[in-house]
Amino acid sequence: MRILFIGDIVGSVGRKAVKACLPGLKQKLNPTFIIANGENAAAGRGITAALTKELFEMGIHGITMGNHTWDQKEIFDFIDNEERMVRPANFPKGTPGRGYTFIKVKGHELAIINMQGRTFLPPLDCPFEKADEIVDVVKKRTKFVLFDFHAEATSEKLAMGWHLDGKVSVVVGTHTHVQTHDERVLPQGTAYVTDVGMVGPRDGILGMERVAVMQKFKTQLPVRFVVDEGKWHFHAVCIDLDPNTGLAQKIQLIRKDEDQIIFE
Ligand SMILES: [Fe+2]
Ligand SMILES: [Fe+2]
Repeated sequence: MRILFIGDIVGSVGRKAVKACLPGLKQKLNPTFIIANGENAAAGRGITAALTKELFEMGIHGITMGNHTWDQKEIFDFIDNEERMVRPANFPKGTPGRGYTFIKVKGHELAIINMQGRTFLPPLDCPFEKADEIVDVVKKRTKFVLFDFHAEATSEKLAMGWHLDGKVSVVVGTHTHVQTHDERVLPQGTAYVTDVGMVGPRDGILGMERVAVMQKFKTQLPVRFVVDEGKWHFHAVCIDLDPNTGLAQKIQLIRKDEDQIIFE
């Protein structure tokens, strides 16, 4: 049982990168499940119905979201009916969409849970309490559980990894768009990485055109950010799970660059 999890896909450059990398990765790794974070798919801000379809057609089985979930108005037209998409589970009761779901591929079932941190982000319900509540529910149905913790603070993500060690198959961090080199299997068997990274413009700042971001830092004046163009990089992780226990055996970082797409 193998999961390929792709970091935040940013804009058209990010989608282009997925198109370029996924066929080779599928062939090389033969993942059972391919899950991706799609909160920045539409020019960095949210996702549309057409782009959701595009990602599924590329072979992605499930999409997680984050703080950009609501950026495209049309999300409200389809999120309730899109069972392969999750938005942070700790939004207020009654929020459209779902915080967890089950992805079925070739007779296997993977629960995916999306949660948002609340350090340097809006004050949502406690992600730890909510995680316990949902993990209990999904574990009644499957032992294979992927938890995408969409959070800003590395410490909050690490706290979640340790909190869920032994309770879920994998905790991946998303949102900060920079891949961290701390991937490991924790002592009780949960694979963990603080941030998977992103898929999109390589020479921007977190996917945004860098001159505007630099100007914002230098002048402190309002600046409009746009998604950068140019060459891409592709960040993901590959996790192997024990089919009997659902716990992780191995986690490996994947990092590809537009100038280097040979899959050795
Ligand atoms: Fe993001
Ligand atoms: Fe985010």
